Amino acid sequence: MSKKMKILLLENIHPAAHDLLRAGGFEVEGMSQALKGEELKSKLQGVDILGIRSKTQVTREVIEAAPHLLSVGCFCIGTNQVALADANLHGIPVFNAPFSNTRSVAEMIIAEIIVLARQIGDRSREVHSGHWKKTAAQCYEIRGKTLGIVGYGHIGSQLGVLAESMGMRVIFYDIQTKLPMGNNRSCPALDALLSESDFVTLHVPETPQTRNMIGAAELARMRQGSYLLNASRGTVVQIPDLAEAIRSGHLAGAAVDVYPEEPESNGAGFECPLRGLPNVLLTPHIGGSTAEAQEAIGREVATSILRFATQGTTTSSVNFPQVELPRSGNTHRIMNVHRNVPGVLRDVNKIVSDRGANIQGQLLSTDADIGYLIMDLNKDVADAVCSDMDALPTSIKTRVVY
Ligand code: NAI
Repeated sequence: MSKKMKILLLENIHPAAHDLLRAGGFEVEGMSQALKGEELKSKLQGVDILGIRSKTQVTREVIEAAPHLLSVGCFCIGTNQVALADANLHGIPVFNAPFSNTRSVAEMIIAEIIVLARQIGDRSREVHSGHWKKTAAQCYEIRGKTLGIVGYGHIGSQLGVLAESMGMRVIFYDIQTKLPMGNNRSCPALDALLSESDFVTLHVPETPQTRNMIGAAELARMRQGSYLLNASRGTVVQIPDLAEAIRSGHLAGAAVDVYPEEPESNGAGFECPLRGLPNVLLTPHIGGSTAEAQEAIGREVATSILRFATQGTTTSSVNFPQVELPRSGNTHRIMNVHRNVPGVLRDVNKIVSDRGANIQGQLLSTDADIGYLIMDLNKDVADAVCSDMDALPTSIKTRVVY
């Protein structure tokens, strides 16, 4: 790193991230709370990189008030607390941790499949209330049963491996062609999966196609006595239709972790048509909430930040052209974000040739609005080339690492 960069970590980010960033040469300041508005703007003065979780709102005003900010790390999955398009226009890549809680969600689904098949939730509630009801009626092993996974991405495919090791048959449906793991089998259509599965579990993102994807018609296609699990997004299932399918006895149970509207803070007063129904597990969006996932998130985002700070790598960014260039030996590296207009590369190459520099590595990637260029140059001219490039009217941000 060219100088000791300063990173401000808000919202109690996991100590693993502090440790990694300190070891990587950062000056780290940590705070337990979120900051907003003027307080956030003034705290950002002199800060190179900001780390947040879901509560700190990085709005356009905040971004405009922090011209030196190089990057934002979201130590969580979602990134809609950041004005991503404005960050892009200001040359600020935003990183998150899309895979760090994959395993946690998959494990919770395995647990819930067994709990539903054995009605353990209801039995536990009864014994807690002093009621003894020992029964084997409608209680099953999961061995040999069919699990239908809708959305075979990170979570879906990890779950397929775990379920198979428990003796389940696994089928999946995805809009993309996916490599089946183990003996998992791809299903050509959602309807076929619904009618073939004993358990249907949803692991799709929220898109216009997945909104209300499972309603009365789809539930009717599911097998009599089957189970539905949703730990994806609350809008994927029409909850009143699911409640009706449970009440009518068509479904034998359900597990729901996500809801169309979720409270912003913990406390009483949560309403849902599924409350009180038999063999229905309701959890407060905790699929990914484990100590291991928190630590993994800390490590994953800190690693992305370090790679960006030291190498300019943006490959895991959510709002930026993706660039990763192996470092050429004995060079200095210039990183330049510019407006994506014709002629920028010509201007850059003219600067390089006017300064008599030798380019040892160069990579450019663009999106609709910006271009991002990484260039390795011989050491004696890198500073001069960097300041010439910074002065170009098309340049948004330029820096050099030694
Ligand atoms: P992913 O992006 O790796 O996988 C999603 C898969 O769904 C992709 O393979 C995609 O092709 C597929 N897909 C998209 N539209 C589809 C459609 N209409 N029909 C069938 N397949 C479709 O995502 P990942 O990491 O596996 O996460 C899945 C979901 O789990 C997301 O909605 C995420 O928000 C949610 N999630 C929930 C957590 C919780 O605490 N309950 C924690 C982590 C993720």
